[in-house]
Amino acid sequence: MKPKLRLTKNTLIFGGAAIWGLILFGCMAVSRTVLVVPHIPGATIVGDKACKECHAEQVDKFANASHAKLAFADPKLGTTGCEACHGAGSIHAKNGGSKGTIINSKKVSEACFECHIEKRGEFSLTNSHQVLNGKMSCGDCHDPHEGRAIRGGGAAIEAANETCTKCHTAQKGPFIFAHNAMKEGCVTCHSPHGSINSKMLVARDANLCLRCHVQTTDRNGTIFVGGEDHRTRLQNGTCWIAGCHEAVHGSNASKALRY
Ligand code: HEC
Ligand code: HEC
Ligand code: HEC
Ligand code: HEC
Ligand code: HEC
Ligand code: HEC
Ligand code: HEC
Repeated sequence: MKPKLRLTKNTLIFGGAAIWGLILFGCMAVSRTVLVVPHIPGATIVGDKACKECHAEQVDKFANASHAKLAFADPKLGTTGCEACHGAGSIHAKNGGSKGTIINSKKVSEACFECHIEKRGEFSLTNSHQVLNGKMSCGDCHDPHEGRAIRGGGAAIEAANETCTKCHTAQKGPFIFAHNAMKEGCVTCHSPHGSINSKMLVARDANLCLRCHVQTTDRNGTIFVGGEDHRTRLQNGTCWIAGCHEAVHGSNASKALRY
């Protein structure tokens, strides 16, 4: 679910020190919410130009980021920029970037929830990455400083998978018998934020696999998957149950994806 706002320079945000009133325009209806930026006592908004002095690389590449296109209602304040996620930067900038004067969003996901409130629900599901308790953060998988905040994506699926395999090394491969589904990305089978299904799967049964592997039935009622009779097999449980295709990410033992 996308946030209910259009990403335009016209998006209105009223300036303030710690709490910004944010008016979000949806495509049809107007929805309002309040944006609470990460709180830094006594600090005020200084704008991206003030960050450039010391963080030239981040500021330059930020120009094409989707998050660079949100703007304050007060034109004097320009775009919401860096401080929407890192908190007001006056003290940090004045003190030459001394420790503890700015929020490192790698540790805090609260700033993200201000605009992506529906993500809180996804991370509350029974099977989810541990973001709400602070063991992980949005920044482990997203870099909002450049282009789209989703790493990899599009033609760069391998890079997207690396976002996951830097932690999940067992799924990285290479495997002698690779499963081509991996080329479509981990998110073909897993909801990366959370899911009601175990192992954060997008489906809990054979449908997970049958989206790509066509199931056919012949005149005698024999059910085929991958050209083989699966009548009794499909009654055993999921396709990845032990003894079937449990090495679903790839196998070093069997072409049929077994250990
Ligand atoms: C005068 C130089 C200077 C300016 C201006 C400056 N910074 Fe920094 N910033 C630094 C230095 C130096 C560090 C590294 C401090 C450290 O290692 O803890 C830093 C660290 C950071 C960090 C990481 C903090 C952490 O805990 O790891 C963030 C985020 C950050 N700056 C954001 C900003 C933003 C946003 C602005 C503009 C509002 C800004 N900085 C302006 C010098 C500056
Ligand atoms: C949409 C939220 C968001 C915005 C806007 C944003 N950042 Fe960040 N920033 C993050 C996250 C998340 C991290 C931690 C993940 C990472 O290091 O990539 C981070 C980390 C940093 C760090 C620390 C890097 C390190 O190695 O520890 C600096 C410095 C920084 N940002 C500067 C900036 C500057 C300057 C801008 C504006 C040009 C900016 N950020 C805009 C979310 C944001
Ligand atoms: C474990 C890695 C991971 C973590 C942690 C994570 N994300 Fe994501 N997120 C992804 C991936 C991968 C996609 C792309 C999904 C796709 O292509 O179907 C995505 C997509 C998104 C999207 C765009 C699509 C959508 O679902 O609306 C948003 C917005 C988003 N994430 C926000 C967040 C926020 C906010 C947090 C922290 C509260 C977060 N994510 C934490 C991996 C992660
Ligand atoms: C000031 C509001 C705001 C904040 C704060 C914010 N986002 Fe976003 N984010 C947006 C908007 C608006 C979009 C664009 C939605 C669209 O294109 O339809 C977006 C899009 C995204 C996407 C989809 C890919 C893209 O770049 O379009 C991801 C992923 C994402 N945000 C992650 C994050 C993370 C992680 C944080 C915190 C570090 C964060 N956002 C903080 C408003 C925000
Ligand atoms: C920063 C490290 C990190 C990253 C990056 C990461 N994960 Fe995880 N993941 C974990 C941890 C830690 C757990 C275990 C959580 C728990 O015990 O509740 C986990 C759990 C899982 C599980 C469930 C395993 C189980 O036993 O229930 C799946 C599936 C998963 N991650 C997939 C992904 C995917 C897909 C991505 C990329 C979009 C990803 N992860 C990115 C650290 C990470
Ligand atoms: C074709 C679908 C599919 C794809 C693609 C896929 N997975 Fe999985 N994954 C599964 C299934 C099914 C399970 C459950 C296996 C089980 O319960 O034994 C699983 C389980 C997991 C687990 C839990 C492992 C355990 O031992 O409990 C992790 C972690 C995981 N996947 C990560 C990933 C990562 C990372 C990627 C991408 C590099 C990925 N998966 C791609 C289907 C897939
Ligand atoms: C995104 C599409 C996709 C999904 C989802 C998918 N697969 Fe695959 N799978 C493929 C492709 C492509 C191949 C290689 C071509 C072929 O043999 O059909 C393959 C090959 C296989 C093979 C090897 C067949 C052989 O004899 O060479 C097995 C076994 C397999 N998949 C099992 C599964 C299981 C189990 C699931 C569900 C957990 C699953 N697949 C989900 C695309 C997918």
